[in-house]
Amino acid sequence: MTSIKVNGVVRDLKDVPEDTPLLWALRDELGLTGTKYGCGVNECGACTVHIDGDAVQSCQTTVGEVGDSEVTTIEGLSEDGSHPVQQAWKELGVAQCGYCQVGQMMMAAALLKNNHHPTDEDIEGEMWNICRCGTYPRIRAAVKSAAQKMGQQEAAQ
Ligand code: FES
Ligand code: FES
Repeated sequence: MTSIKVNGVVRDLKDVPEDTPLLWALRDELGLTGTKYGCGVNECGACTVHIDGDAVQSCQTTVGEVGDSEVTTIEGLSEDGSHPVQQAWKELGVAQCGYCQVGQMMMAAALLKNNHHPTDEDIEGEMWNICRCGTYPRIRAAVKSAAQKMGQQEAAQ
């Protein structure tokens, strides 16, 4: 039986072939429907999750490839929506239709882990996710706001 660690918990994936895309295991087997299907061909970023903290496209990663690594989905980014990225997204009302936004937030959280002061160029370079609603200006503002929040949290520690 295949099992993967998701959001801190080892989950059994009964009867799921190892070549199943992680996206479908998360959504259909584990009910973690925050992660979205957009294109299926690595061109939209809607399916972005973290594997060991790095942004990965779950439509392009098989269950077998996860191995002993740890998967984090939007449901596990924080328990209560309190991650600085989630807070900034809410405060700035980034979402329009919302479909792409989970992937955007997961990409942003991974970016901010390695870059605490992202410029517009950094954000545009790293965050290639597509937003059909064109929320890009608000996304850039929210990433910078989240970076500030993270800096304040670090300073307070
Ligand atoms: S659904 Fe995975 S990149 Fe578009
Ligand atoms: S908010 Fe609609 S696709 Fe991005």
